[in-house]
Amino acid sequence: MCGIFGLITNQDIEIGKIILEGIKRLEYRGYDSCGIVAQHNSKLYVKKDAGKINEIHKRLKLDEFPFGTKLGLAHTRWATHGPPTKINSHPHLDCNEKIAVLHNGILENFFELKEELERKGHIFRSETDTEIFPHLIEEYMKTGIDFKFAVSEAMKRCKGAYGLAICHAEYPDQIIVVRKESPLVIGLEEGKTTYCASDIPAFLPYTRECYILDDNEMAVLAAGYVDFYDIDNLTNPKEKEKQIIQWSIDAAEKGGYKHFMLKEIYEEPSAMRRTLKISKETLQIFARILWGAKNIYITAAGTSYYACLAGKFIITKFLHKYIEAIECSEFQTQLGDALQEDSVIIAVSQSGETVDTIEAIRWAKEKLKNNVKILCITNVVGSSLTRYSDYVIVTQAGPEIGVAATKTYCTQVLTLALIGLEIAKFRKILTKEEIDNYYHALNSTPDIIETFLQENIDLIKDIVKNLDKSHNFFYLARGISIATAREGGLKLKEVACRFIEGYSAAHAKHGPISLVREGFPIIFIAPPDETYERLLGNVMEFKARGGMIISVVVEDDRLITGFSHRTIRIPQPSDKYFSLFSPITFIPALQLLSYYAALKNGLDPDQPLNLAKTVTVH
Ligand code: F6R
Repeated sequence: MCGIFGLITNQDIEIGKIILEGIKRLEYRGYDSCGIVAQHNSKLYVKKDAGKINEIHKRLKLDEFPFGTKLGLAHTRWATHGPPTKINSHPHLDCNEKIAVLHNGILENFFELKEELERKGHIFRSETDTEIFPHLIEEYMKTGIDFKFAVSEAMKRCKGAYGLAICHAEYPDQIIVVRKESPLVIGLEEGKTTYCASDIPAFLPYTRECYILDDNEMAVLAAGYVDFYDIDNLTNPKEKEKQIIQWSIDAAEKGGYKHFMLKEIYEEPSAMRRTLKISKETLQIFARILWGAKNIYITAAGTSYYACLAGKFIITKFLHKYIEAIECSEFQTQLGDALQEDSVIIAVSQSGETVDTIEAIRWAKEKLKNNVKILCITNVVGSSLTRYSDYVIVTQAGPEIGVAATKTYCTQVLTLALIGLEIAKFRKILTKEEIDNYYHALNSTPDIIETFLQENIDLIKDIVKNLDKSHNFFYLARGISIATAREGGLKLKEVACRFIEGYSAAHAKHGPISLVREGFPIIFIAPPDETYERLLGNVMEFKARGGMIISVVVEDDRLITGFSHRTIRIPQPSDKYFSLFSPITFIPALQLLSYYAALKNGLDPDQPLNLAKTVTVH
């Protein structure tokens, strides 16, 4: 995955500065190299290199554009074809250095096209798939057709996924963008400036008016104006619905925090308060569909998958039907012909752009000739996943920039819990008092997290200090908290580069316990639910073998606390209503632990090694 940002304007604005700031807001999408192109006086000016944006900026002054430039594009890369080097960085140019292309995605038939173009005399400079595009467009322009028609012809030859931004030295009034399976959005300051980006936060400080490009669409951007086309019909521009983005500008900035990850953890209470206001009607639709379903599957990747594990536990409690959770990348291979008509699939994705999640849904729809219902939970309005779904809930986390998902996890579990409670209501399986108690507990989750964040930072830092030398850990739990252990484990792996296994405490006795030696850190997730007593037994077993026990418990816990070396207390009552939602209220402790462990290890938690926020390649 990569990030693209660009603009075309008729205003006297500091275009270099805006482009640099904009691309920095997309650095979460990839950060192994970066480049910019400015179009001025029939020439293209390119600066690019391998490394992070700030390092390259120090060397190349990325914000210094030729005086009077009105059109510029920038790219931040997460390498797929060819290592992160200067030559492989975007933009890529054609032979005559007239056409510049910036690409997010993968061109699948690139070997075949490269051979064809080389036979025609094109000289390639890089190892990337992206470089095919400028040469192919150049080839079509040689036949005498206009820039946008050449782009359209070139696209007809290309297989794979692409979001492209293209400019031409001799077309000062146009940026052309096209989309197939990789996100692209257009921002408009009517009559003045038009922006293109891989994600909305890049232009949010300048405009809230936004258009979301669909697959196989082209947009031709002029200053303060934009035309949309189907890629194979450029004669008539098409109408597109404008979206007004409600996110605050602050949400896309660090706002005084050292890292987005920390800021986004602190935003959890407000993100959840907004998500608690999701329309009752939509929740009821989801609830009724699940109640009527023959088979139910829930699918996602990474953190979203762990949210599914917690959510399916809560929904099953009230639905009394089995919900199978399948990692999206295995959806097709695991289900195959077992996928039956009248199934319902819940697809969960923060970005709505994870390629394996989208592919799982597309495969199911194709196989069952649409005789399947897709319920989608995403954080991004208009994302690709929403287009393949029958019903959509948009979580209200606001933009999440930190590569490690934090606040969106809380809002995903919360949304699934709200669906679960809707089911409990219409099935009338609980008394009014019980329903009220569950709602009270769920509505209290933002306050619990807020209080926890106010009171526990020093404790977490201190625990991290003492864990400093440990390279291996366990997070152990039972029941619903296994989801918390796995998500906590994922956070520590990705941001702190520590190996940790999030595991079932019961299952850990069937092998993993053999790793435990004196001082081996084991973090037990221990809300006072029906698994608590058995978990206490596991705590004692691991302690007896020398494990250093850190427990995450509720405020007035006594038993497990008594066997622990360190304790993190979550300020919530000790009852079953609150415990059911502990995947939401316990996770901030583990997120903070990972955050401070990353700092302790000298790592940047916002930009973990080898990762990008959204995985749009298989
Ligand atoms: C981990 C993380 C990833 C994502 C995963 C799915 O912190 O962010 O594991 O959860 O790539 O992404 P979405 O939810 O956008 O489909």
